Amino acid sequence: MTELDEERQLQEYDKGGMIAVIEAYPDQCREGIALGDGFRPEIPTGVDKVIVCGMGGSAMAGEVARRFSRVPVFVNRNYTLPSFAGDGTLIIAVSYSGNTAETISGLDAGLRARIPAFAVSSGGKLEEIARSHGIPHLRVPRGYQPRAAMGYLALSVLRVLAQAGLLRIEPDWEELIHALESVRDASRAAVPEADNPAKQLARSLYGRIPLFYGTAGNTDLVAMRWKTQVNENSKQPAFWNVIPELNHNEIVGFSDERLRQGLSCVFLKNDYDHPENRARIEIMHELLHGKVPAVVIGADGRSELSQVLSQIHFGDYVSYYLAILNQIDPTPVELIESFKRRMSAR
Ligand code: F6R
Repeated sequence: MTELDEERQLQEYDKGGMIAVIEAYPDQCREGIALGDGFRPEIPTGVDKVIVCGMGGSAMAGEVARRFSRVPVFVNRNYTLPSFAGDGTLIIAVSYSGNTAETISGLDAGLRARIPAFAVSSGGKLEEIARSHGIPHLRVPRGYQPRAAMGYLALSVLRVLAQAGLLRIEPDWEELIHALESVRDASRAAVPEADNPAKQLARSLYGRIPLFYGTAGNTDLVAMRWKTQVNENSKQPAFWNVIPELNHNEIVGFSDERLRQGLSCVFLKNDYDHPENRARIEIMHELLHGKVPAVVIGADGRSELSQVLSQIHFGDYVSYYLAILNQIDPTPVELIESFKRRMSAR
């Protein structure tokens, strides 16, 4: 059995030092807020929709913006822009490396259509394009895996949107950092498994294919992030879906005992769920009893923002410990990189 409480065991697999990055995440978020604060790009008045061009870990900045914006935010994960891009649109191109082809292509399309834009990256082509087109560019620190730099990317963008009056919440940044710190204090590597909820959840998911279920417009982005973190950190299949939609289709997939073997369900709720969706989680949990292992996970913090982001942070820990149980280094994502190399070699 892999021991999650032995530092030596963690070090044996965590060659890339992911635990140090995760444990410093509350500080990273604080820095992300400060970066956004100091950036102050000129945002035209009359913005009535935002398109965030980004992929993978960088697209999460768009998901967080979508969750808290007062105008529609479309997270554009494609080479082209949606047809509604035009008057009143603001484009935010986010790519941690600055070299993601789809993101650059989306921004290019926006620049050709003369849509106001700004870009966020740690450098790369995105920074060069921003410079040559004279659009504002926010540079975040280098040296991270993009998904592990979510604090820099998402919080800087959120801060800029707050300054521009484009959020429907008034973030309490200090409360957010405290909520993240309390997740860290409970889930960090030094806390033994007997008292550590992230280690315990990882242990219960080990050897299974997790299905992460969020709620529409609330914890949906959390479910997406947990799934992608389990894919990339723990290096195993995982899936996500959204309540109430999944009650109209996916639920039927649990009918056959043989075909539900090896699955595990994780419901992600918080205090801001629609009461009907909360009832749906309870009923589904009951229905799955004795069929598929299922847990309901709540959120730390007080505000909507803290609950969403601290639950995401908790998922980072779970995916990390699951990687250690899978006896694999959480940091490298060789398959993503070799795929990108093959695409650009053509
Ligand atoms: C790797 C990761 C990926 C990247 C994605 C886009 O850690 O999270 O999902 O985020 O391949 O690359 P960037 O973020 O550099 O635009």
